[in-house]
Amino acid sequence: MKQFIVTGASKGLGQALLRELMRPECRLIGMARSDAGELAKEAAGKGVALRWIRCDLGDAASLEAVMEQAFAEIDGEGLDTIGLINNAGVIEPIAPAAVASGEDLIRNVSVNLIAPVVLTAAFLRLTAGWKAKRLVLNVSSGAGSKPYSGWSAYCASKAGLDMFTRCVGAEQEAEANGARVLSAAPGVVDTAMQRDIRAASPELFPSRERFVELHSSGRLAGADETAAKLLRTLFDERHPSGSVLDVRDLY
Ligand SMILES: NC(=O)c1ccc[n+]([C@@H]2O[C@H](COP(=O)([O-])OP(=O)(O)OC[C@H]3O[C@@H](n4cnc5c(N)ncnc54)[C@H](OP(=O)(O)O)[C@@H]3O)[C@@H](O)[C@H]2O)c1
Repeated sequence: MKQFIVTGASKGLGQALLRELMRPECRLIGMARSDAGELAKEAAGKGVALRWIRCDLGDAASLEAVMEQAFAEIDGEGLDTIGLINNAGVIEPIAPAAVASGEDLIRNVSVNLIAPVVLTAAFLRLTAGWKAKRLVLNVSSGAGSKPYSGWSAYCASKAGLDMFTRCVGAEQEAEANGARVLSAAPGVVDTAMQRDIRAASPELFPSRERFVELHSSGRLAGADETAAKLLRTLFDERHPSGSVLDVRDLY
């Protein structure tokens, strides 16, 4: 059996990742602030075990407990693979740093960077010594290497996530049965996050028009096809631990 934990699984890319993993050989845990909605019925219909943990990943103090809650019902013995997909993310605040509130900036960095860092660390600790293949996929962004006015916290968080991946990858490469920790940018995907980007004020986000144009010309990638590419990336053993990738360059 394989066990996967997917954060931000209630909609968008995370929901598509969870759906794509609804396979007979998989057990799943979804995390988000919202409930599982239709996903619970869908998993049951496919005979796939899905647990749902409602949590606010912006609450840094609760992150280790969230991971411990996830692992409380995981039996590592029968597993050939255990995976964590850090997908939850927020784009807001879309505004110059000089204009955004401290509270919104903290929230952005908490969800986009602190949560995957702490959840990955807890995952590595809780699976240390396991025989199962251990996989971590951090869903990053092209914004981690390209600066955008109005997205300072988001860009900085994704750049931090990429560097975290590289460092932990190097640590894990040196371990026996070290985890394969990857970071992958998904491209521009048709989700609620893109809707929020198009709804931003052009005064606060000068690149808004580019995203409006990508949408109106039908050039956004679908969540399902992107989820499939992300999973292909995760399972592709040619990518060593610590790799920072962009699915647009791969498939
Ligand atoms: N869409 C794109 O074009 C694009 C491009 C590059 C990278 N990405 C990355 O891809 C990932 C998924 O993005 P998406 O486009 O699918 O976004 P989305 O449609 O807005 O979905 C975001 C997911 O994250 C969850 N989430 C947000 N804040 C949370 C919190 N505080 N605690 C727990 N869960 C939280 C949401 O669930 P709840 O609201 O239920 O909590 C939701 O399931 C993100 O990491 C994003 O940065 C997306």
